[in-house]
Amino acid sequence: MSDVLKLGVLASGRGSNLQSILDAIDAGNLDARVDVVVSNTPRCRALERAAGRGIRAECISRKAAGGRRPQLLRMTEILQAAGVDLVVLAGFNLITPPEMTAAFPNRILNIHPTLLPAFAGGMAPAPQQDAIDWGVKFTGCTIHVVTDELDAGPIVAQAAVPVRDGDDADTLSDRILVEEHRLYPQVLQWFAEGRVRVEGRRVFVADNSEPSEVG
Ligand code: GAR
Repeated sequence: MSDVLKLGVLASGRGSNLQSILDAIDAGNLDARVDVVVSNTPRCRALERAAGRGIRAECISRKAAGGRRPQLLRMTEILQAAGVDLVVLAGFNLITPPEMTAAFPNRILNIHPTLLPAFAGGMAPAPQQDAIDWGVKFTGCTIHVVTDELDAGPIVAQAAVPVRDGDDADTLSDRILVEEHRLYPQVLQWFAEGRVRVEGRRVFVADNSEPSEVG
């Protein structure tokens, strides 16, 4: 891994998680650099945020690529050619193909707005609404390693958020987002420090004093 952690971000929409990562880098709390942001959505906010900072921002539409599979393979090529250390899914609404997980083994992270394995699948705000409808008292967010099984890869970190009686998907999402914006930069810094080890389903974060390689 290079000195500074090189990130490639995949995002489809608003990009508030991308922004929290950029803010953490600016604040000196994350030793990383976002080298490329790739989206499937033209003119989305995430791409605007990247382009506004001079970060390479690429939109690969399904139509231009000639279908879903070529679209996802083109994204994989871009990330590989950019030489990123980690791929960060931040509100990305497509399912990663096996070629992408094979190209970045244990090096793709996703954030999901529930406490997985509860309410896996779907995009915000559907999982938050599912949690409310089920009647759980706590939900939250999960950052996990992406594997070929949807939302089922090894869990790196979670933050719990209480569900209040008056919550709707918007109010609950807002409180979960506060935790997302705190947790993603923190987890990425663990990777930057070489402290994360994946063993089967379990992820261990070493003390600062004993750096380790990603397994
Ligand atoms: C976030 O809440 C993220 O957890 C969720 O989409 C939102 C993206 O917001 N991701 C999923 O639902 C993945 N299944 P953002 O574009 O402002 O970062």
